[in-house]
Amino acid sequence: ALVSLRQILDHAAENNYGIPAFNVNNLEQVQAIMEAAAETDSPVILQASAGARKYAGEEFLRHLIEGAIAEYPDIPVVMHQDHGASPNVCFQAIQLGFSSVMMDGSLLADGKTPSSYEYNIEVTRKVCELAHSVGVSVEGELGCLGSLETGEGDKEDGHGFDGKLEKDQLLTDPLQAKEFVEATKVDALAIAIGTSHGAYKFTRKPTGDILAIEQVRKIHQAIPNTHLVMHGSSSVPQEWLAVIREFGGDLKETYGVPVEEIQTAIKYGVRKINIDTDIRLAMTGAIRRYFGTHRDHFDPRQYLKVAKEAAKQICIDRYKQFATAGNASKI
Ligand code: G3H
Ligand code: 13P
Ligand code: NA
Ligand code: ZN
Repeated sequence: ALVSLRQILDHAAENNYGIPAFNVNNLEQVQAIMEAAAETDSPVILQASAGARKYAGEEFLRHLIEGAIAEYPDIPVVMHQDHGASPNVCFQAIQLGFSSVMMDGSLLADGKTPSSYEYNIEVTRKVCELAHSVGVSVEGELGCLGSLETGEGDKEDGHGFDGKLEKDQLLTDPLQAKEFVEATKVDALAIAIGTSHGAYKFTRKPTGDILAIEQVRKIHQAIPNTHLVMHGSSSVPQEWLAVIREFGGDLKETYGVPVEEIQTAIKYGVRKINIDTDIRLAMTGAIRRYFGTHRDHFDPRQYLKVAKEAAKQICIDRYKQFATAGNASKI
């Protein structure tokens, strides 16, 4: 059944677990996530970015997610709009039937320039007012994703902010977070702790100086009743990087957010963990390996099947690692 984000994050908070939120663009990803959730009894967050809607078209995307809900009536599913760049983007998603929206007011409507705190409060409060009146949940974001190693902002798709960011922009301030949540009434808050989107997050296995899990604890202390969200939280499995390289891919050395750090963050109030890149890497690795070993095959169902299986295994792993597993039937 379609549920709001608030409903399943409240359950996660009461029972001390986290829920991965997976980005979807196509049929095989949706099927992989739902099969993994059914096998592990996990509640589901399917999220669509602006890029996903551009790629698949909003009607196809919406119907894919509705197809998942129809096929798995017993699993609670949140249909979430990821990184809305303006109130209008969120309002359109609500009209389409999304049960949850993210108003990312940490950036201006261009989706890359850091905004002022006042702008962020204004647009986020506006979305909360309307969304809450129709039972839709809202995620806000305070702070800028980006690297504590280099000061570079989030560079998803290579068109990020050009200037350097200060450390206080890259780490969400606990007291400001408290004020922000009170002023906007968001249901969940995405925080900045040194992660960024995409495969290139860290040049080494991260330690506390570049992945500030300690900051999560401080923020949780200031706003214990607000569900925290971690973006850019793919773990970037070294095994998949190795497969991609073995079968002709050219990916540089890179590290993601270790699962054990996410497990600590869950203890500190993180309830929603956004993952896109890990599924991309697994699907790409599986397809490269398939092509490398089946040179005469040309039926997309054959290589999309192995891609789906690889994505599904990532989802099963995360559902177990975040202790999501076993909870769908309890909601
Ligand atoms: O926001 C995070 C996702 O990785 C979005 O990627 O815009 O290419 O779909 P996308
Ligand atoms: P990754 O690129 O680490 O998978 O992050 C995805 C994300 O935060 C989507 O909003
Ligand atoms: Na941000
Ligand atoms: Zn994100």
